[in-house]
Amino acid sequence: MSLAVGRLTWRDDGMGVIAVTAARSDSYEVIIDPGALESLPAVLSRVGPADSVILVTEDNIAPLLLAHTLALLHRAGIAAQAIVIPAGETSKSWPAAQYVIDGLLAHGARRRTILVALGGGVIVDLVGFVASVFMRGLPYVNVPTSLLAQLDAAIGGKTGIDYQGSKNLLGSFCHPAAVLVDPELLRTLPDREIRSGLAEAIKIGILYPPLFAKLENMGSIGVADLKPIIDDAVRHKLRLLAEDPFERSLVRLLNLGHSVGHALEAATGFEVFRHGEAVAVGIAVATVLSRHRGLCSAGTADRILGCLTSCQLEISLPSHLVSAAWEELTVIRRIRNGALREVLPVAIGECLVVDEISHAEYLAATSSLAKLAPTSSPLAL
Ligand SMILES: NC(=O)c1ccc[n+]([C@@H]2O[C@H](COP(=O)([O-])OP(=O)(O)OC[C@H]3O[C@@H](n4cnc5c(N)ncnc54)[C@H](O)[C@@H]3O)[C@@H](O)[C@H]2O)c1
Ligand SMILES: [Zn+2]
Repeated sequence: MSLAVGRLTWRDDGMGVIAVTAARSDSYEVIIDPGALESLPAVLSRVGPADSVILVTEDNIAPLLLAHTLALLHRAGIAAQAIVIPAGETSKSWPAAQYVIDGLLAHGARRRTILVALGGGVIVDLVGFVASVFMRGLPYVNVPTSLLAQLDAAIGGKTGIDYQGSKNLLGSFCHPAAVLVDPELLRTLPDREIRSGLAEAIKIGILYPPLFAKLENMGSIGVADLKPIIDDAVRHKLRLLAEDPFERSLVRLLNLGHSVGHALEAATGFEVFRHGEAVAVGIAVATVLSRHRGLCSAGTADRILGCLTSCQLEISLPSHLVSAAWEELTVIRRIRNGALREVLPVAIGECLVVDEISHAEYLAATSSLAKLAPTSSPLAL
């Protein structure tokens, strides 16, 4: 584990052009272990001089974990301070980023201050974003507390905030200095949030058959059952990132379910669906689209929809949101240079990126799903 190191070289062709190559390299540990939180002081000391540490968390997690975490650091001689923001996706915002920045200044943050993101995906995305811009970059350590953040958001260095209704419009690639995944922290996580996290696990599982099999056969969702899921998901996410860590290709398989998922979140002001719930609907739409194109077998589609349903995830778009979500997809398409690349499952372990889906295909998929879904949708408005 070390702070980023870099190297800059250049070649002068003597004709007025200097070709510059700058390379940055980050290395860090991801520790997945029940009780890992207790090793936070040791991890911080390995990241750098831990004489200035600022914890950022939100007001659902603060009553559960803040006093314990601060005491842990204080006992180790680390004088940490804390910034607490309101819980929820609305805090993945410019005003919240500004609030954290003002807090850092008030606490006397300096170039080597280490930030600790203690929270779910909202906190790790927001803290990573602030860390990447404050004084041109502070080291930050992720301590994810939701299942979704433990198996997905805390890993990979994608940071960001939502802006003007667009999900993750502002952001950067900035890896944490360490990630501490402690499944014990999930004991207080509400069931609905566990299911939301399972949706991202299913997304990764569709790309990695051994994980999909674990999810299909999961009898219960106790903390002990979640550890192997987190283990597999983190490792396979890293494998997928290895090819294209900066998302140059814009066709990341990890975006499975996310076009429609983001559209659904945006169409409802980020306040109705948990992120994973919206992604679950997006995965279901992608699966039916794939089936309608004859890309996947009925058996594969049944397995994916069955796995989502057995994790008690809703698979259909509420009818009144079908056109609002399509409108949002149009906005996303514009942002992505006019193309709406969609990741479609072909088999468990294989996905395909297609360039475009038509409005007619989208309507056919959403209406097929509506016929499959139970009438008493918990998300029906
Ligand atoms: N950067 C990435 O690669 C990446 C990947 C996936 C998702 N995301 C982002 O992650 C966000 C969603 O993350 P999330 O679902 O964790 O949302 P979240 O941070 O809002 O957490 C979900 C809910 O669980 C509560 N919570 C978290 N930990 C808890 C605990 N231990 N005990 C009790 N309650 C707890 C929170 O207060 C919140 O109410 C989205 O904004 C999404 O875009 C980012
Ligand atoms: Zn996601």
